[in-house]
Amino acid sequence: MRQMLSLAVVGLLLTTGAACSAPPSSPAATPATAQASADAPVYTTVRRSADGIGKAYQGREISAVMGWQGAAWLEREEREREERGSVLLEELDLQPGMAVADVGAGTGYYARRMAPLVAPGGKVYAVDVQPQMVAILRELAARPGLAGIVPVQAQVADPKLAPESVDLALMVDVYHELEYPHEVLQALVRALKPGGRLVFVEYRAEDETVPIKPLHKMSEAQIRKEAALHPLVWERTADRLPWQHVVVFRKR
Ligand SMILES: C[S@@+](CC[C@H](N)C(=O)[O-])C[C@H]1O[C@@H](n2cnc3c(N)ncnc32)[C@H](O)[C@@H]1O
Repeated sequence: MRQMLSLAVVGLLLTTGAACSAPPSSPAATPATAQASADAPVYTTVRRSADGIGKAYQGREISAVMGWQGAAWLEREEREREERGSVLLEELDLQPGMAVADVGAGTGYYARRMAPLVAPGGKVYAVDVQPQMVAILRELAARPGLAGIVPVQAQVADPKLAPESVDLALMVDVYHELEYPHEVLQALVRALKPGGRLVFVEYRAEDETVPIKPLHKMSEAQIRKEAALHPLVWERTADRLPWQHVVVFRKR
């Protein structure tokens, strides 16, 4: 099964491979144009590219969601060598007792590494929009030693986290594919405790040697431009990972 999944996703995100599968939901009632209220983000409709959804925000086309069929790619053996997730965990500086949200947790690759770092007393809310991913996360949370993982079924514009409930919200390779980035960021800022951190981990668009398709990459400038629309203060950008930057903000 694992091998079948691997074959299905070879090149899912890599520059030379097939396109992503369709996003899990595209509510027909919500047009990809300007929203109703005055402070709402302006989404525009653009010509849909192979990896995109035909909807633009802040000058970029939003990428299609990596479908659950790509689960094995998230668990590939070479991932630590390629992405150095262990270095990312050092950058996060997690402490026992912290409440962390792994937003767009996928198979829980990071959630299960973070859970022991916030124990005892801590929690990892493993949030995903695809029910198939949440089913994987539920199995994970039932494993010995991983009871600190709390799977959460998100809605496309709502991560379903309680206000002021988390110390840190992490999005690894997720933000570029949020269908409603503005609404999700608003909700994540609300979910952060005062002074809590929001961390974006995205493949570096500035580096063309990073072998990931363009819509699945983001520049630091683009992340900062979009984060600046929210009550967030940029704290630092860490560039110790081979392919991704780690852009850290704090709730104002
Ligand atoms: C490329 S995967 C990354 C998974 C995980 N962060 C990792 O690095 O292993 C992106 C994940 O984000 C999830 N996702 C996309 N849109 C989302 C949304 N609006 N809310 C929550 N999760 C979302 C997808 O379902 C998918 O599991």
